[in-house]
Amino acid sequence: MLGIEYPIFQGPFGGRLSSAELVAAVSNAGGLGGYGAYTLTPQEIIEVDQEIKAATAKPYNINLWVSDTDATNGTVTEARYEEVKAFFRPYFEETNIPFPEKPAPFKSRFENQVEVILDVRPKVFSFVFGIPSADILEQCRKRGIITAGAATTLDEAIALENAGIDLIIASGFEAGGHRPSFLSATELSFTGTFVLVQLIREKVKTPVIAAGGIANGKGIAAAMTLGASAAQVGTAFLVCDESNALPVHRQMLLSDAAKYTTLSKAYTGRLGRGLANRITRETGNEAPYLPFPLQSTFMSSLRSAAVQQQKWDMVYFWGGQIAPVLKHTKASKLMQSLIEETSACFSELKA
Ligand SMILES: Cc1cc2nc3c(=O)[nH]c(=O)nc-3n(C[C@H](O)[C@H](O)[C@H](O)COP(=O)(O)O)c2cc1C
Repeated sequence: MLGIEYPIFQGPFGGRLSSAELVAAVSNAGGLGGYGAYTLTPQEIIEVDQEIKAATAKPYNINLWVSDTDATNGTVTEARYEEVKAFFRPYFEETNIPFPEKPAPFKSRFENQVEVILDVRPKVFSFVFGIPSADILEQCRKRGIITAGAATTLDEAIALENAGIDLIIASGFEAGGHRPSFLSATELSFTGTFVLVQLIREKVKTPVIAAGGIANGKGIAAAMTLGASAAQVGTAFLVCDESNALPVHRQMLLSDAAKYTTLSKAYTGRLGRGLANRITRETGNEAPYLPFPLQSTFMSSLRSAAVQQQKWDMVYFWGGQIAPVLKHTKASKLMQSLIEETSACFSELKA
């Protein structure tokens, strides 16, 4: 269906953590590289696509967020902004930086971004946080773009199938990054990957890709044994040199700090998994936050100051629960190892 040699997807990373180099390394090795483009302008997506096309002739995936804002009218009240400032004041004081201005109103970028996707025609267009309109899906079909939508519950998988989406990414609770629920509250969508894959396979005919907690061949073989058609591997590729993560981010994921991850809203306003730190511990998820993505804008100067001052306990390092088993830091080596281990597992099962 995809024209790829191995059932291995490299999970796309939003927030400018993807790179054309990583996408090309994975696609050239026979998997499906993925680029997370939801924070890019349409022009930037065109440029990234050119970079990818220059580096690989193989199929690849570009990823967007269907719902990319929770802010009513794109903004928040002064009162809410003051409340959030008061709550986060100690961190701004400690890093000795002023509060940013109230974030400018945010307007969804999805519609404009998707127009570029339709023009540049990646083999796969994957998306999270919702389902694109019937018109967009029809345009994808006409252009031969395969669609892949993320589900965190069985209901979401059924909704994706009913909309005619080609592939369902079963996104388990273990995964690094945001929890992309779109039908019920994220807090009601905490199913792990292996349960989710089985629930979806019982009721849905669309091919399922298992995502979350898979970082080696045993994980891929296990997911496929449970009925997944492929596995999407994220955190294991994020620590590779080719990703756009800061070197300290990659080092933290490979250190003992990776033993404890958590789901926090503190950095963006939506629940996402990363390494537990002082701010995630002290704020909890009932703290006052700005709606996504205004909270990200609010926190960005604090994050930069914390990085500059090497206050690592205030920087959120995105990553999944599987990080402590990671070994490879070169994408081609990781691919080779995933392919060999998966094949070895299946040979052992047959023997
Ligand atoms: C830093 C980070 C950013 C991510 N951003 C996105 C994104 O923008 N869109 C998306 O579909 N998935 C995103 N993901 C999820 C991955 O594509 C993948 O599904 C997930 O990492 C798989 O779980 P694992 O981390 O346990 O391997 C992100 C994951 C991480 C770690």
